[in-house]
Amino acid sequence: MNKETCLKKITAVTPPNLGGFAEGNAGGQAVRKQEGQLLYALCKVFLPKNILETGTHTGCSTNYLLKYAAEQNATVSTFDVESKAGKDIMQSLSANLILHKPKKRILSRKVRPVDIVNIRKLVLETATAGVDLFFHDSDHSYENAKWEYDNITALMKRGSVVVLHDVARQRHGTRQLFDEVECDWKHIFDTPNGLGLIVLK
Ligand SMILES: C[S@@+](CC[C@H](N)C(=O)[O-])C[C@H]1O[C@@H](n2cnc3c(N)ncnc32)[C@H](O)[C@@H]1O
Repeated sequence: MNKETCLKKITAVTPPNLGGFAEGNAGGQAVRKQEGQLLYALCKVFLPKNILETGTHTGCSTNYLLKYAAEQNATVSTFDVESKAGKDIMQSLSANLILHKPKKRILSRKVRPVDIVNIRKLVLETATAGVDLFFHDSDHSYENAKWEYDNITALMKRGSVVVLHDVARQRHGTRQLFDEVECDWKHIFDTPNGLGLIVLK
């Protein structure tokens, strides 16, 4: 699908209103409602069967991906290094969810290098089984974003999709990565934090 067709199709999607605290008005680290709705629309246009998300946090973006997954019988595998991740994921949408997080209590400031190694192993296992859409919203440092991008996209097919959150700021690690990747085409959506779409070649 070329860029023009894709952008036209996105505007034709009716965005869902999930309602409640977790729909994107919580602020903090969660994606904003407009960004969640855009994630949903991107799924409706590209129709991924296997979605991989890094950076679950409370589950705001996950809920929008799950809304799509429930309609299309897709799977959402989401990963976080914190044990409390996913606490706002809607029970009614959780049938298509695989949530990977530490079993024992780990809070953000207590995350150790070994915890990151462990979650990366799980990410690779899932990616090896197949990914059609990868949404990055974990650690936004250049090192982490590049590790995830390189290792996950190496296992993805041409025409598959990567979405990077937080590409609005020029000096952000994810923006640096977005600018340097070579792909079929890419686009930045003008959302509160900037959502970068990459279509793989
Ligand atoms: C910006 S928040 C994600 C927001 C979430 N997508 C939402 O809409 O609510 C970033 C999350 O990434 C997690 N994180 C940090 N480093 C990580 C890593 N290496 N792998 C997976 N998750 C990580 C943090 O614990 C935090 O919950």
